[in-house]
Amino acid sequence: MTAIIDGKASAERLLAGIAADALAFRQEHGMPPTLAVILIGDDPASQVYVGRKIAACRRVGIGSIEHRLDGDFGEEALLALIDRLNADAKVHGILVQLPLPQGIRANPVLDRITPEKDVDGFHPVNVGRLSIGSDGLMPCTPLGCMILLDSVIQDFRGLSAVVVGKSNIVGKPVALLMLERECTVTVTHIHTRGLPDIVRSADIVVVAAGSPGLVRGDWIKPGAVVIDVGINRISDGADGSRIVGDCVFEEMSHARAVSPVPGGVGPMTIACLLSNTVRAARRQVR
Ligand code: GUN
Repeated sequence: MTAIIDGKASAERLLAGIAADALAFRQEHGMPPTLAVILIGDDPASQVYVGRKIAACRRVGIGSIEHRLDGDFGEEALLALIDRLNADAKVHGILVQLPLPQGIRANPVLDRITPEKDVDGFHPVNVGRLSIGSDGLMPCTPLGCMILLDSVIQDFRGLSAVVVGKSNIVGKPVALLMLERECTVTVTHIHTRGLPDIVRSADIVVVAAGSPGLVRGDWIKPGAVVIDVGINRISDGADGSRIVGDCVFEEMSHARAVSPVPGGVGPMTIACLLSNTVRAARRQVR
């Protein structure tokens, strides 16, 4: 029997702990841990994600400050806003929702956020810390993947892990986290040759390709653990659309465990963002 990894339940457990930590912080410091979220433009998916992040903050007693800005807000003005938030002692985490509108370069923007408030873990200093296994702020989706893997795997040492997708947000950092746990890690991408055979060699498969239905059942070694990071909206005939992952879920029957979409990694990403916000806040008041 394939176990379905319940990301919603894991996220709820994490959120209960975060709510307790946020309350303790507030009592000690007279202010809540606080996250500033910047959204530029009107990308519909980003609007939904930002709405969920703010709602989750409210639920656990984390303060939130929203900056929803027009698509023609310039890069210089954005950098100036980040400077103000960096200097504000009541703001502990800063998140700039990606993708940014054309005309604003992501790298200079992400570089401007002080690493101590970089709750997405995207600043080069935090990426560097992750790469040497030191204690920085780590990206939320990869952290969520590791918590789900921890719920079904006791000992990672020597396991073969294959990551499908080499993005800076998921593929590369989750590969580093599994390497840190002593897995033997292979990162694949769009130009990888013989992808099905490589995936078939894996004890752990993390798929973050953004390609609906890419990974088929016969790519999976019996007993492997599969984490599906994909979030793809596909049209569903006459009655609208639905969200699917990068794996053909119904074909994952010889996996030992698989995370579903929706209800797998998605809820964990938000919980890890809030966890990073409390962690960042604690480090700033020390
Ligand atoms: N867009 C898609 N995923 C993410 C994420 O994890 N953080 C931010 N800031 N933007 C995103």
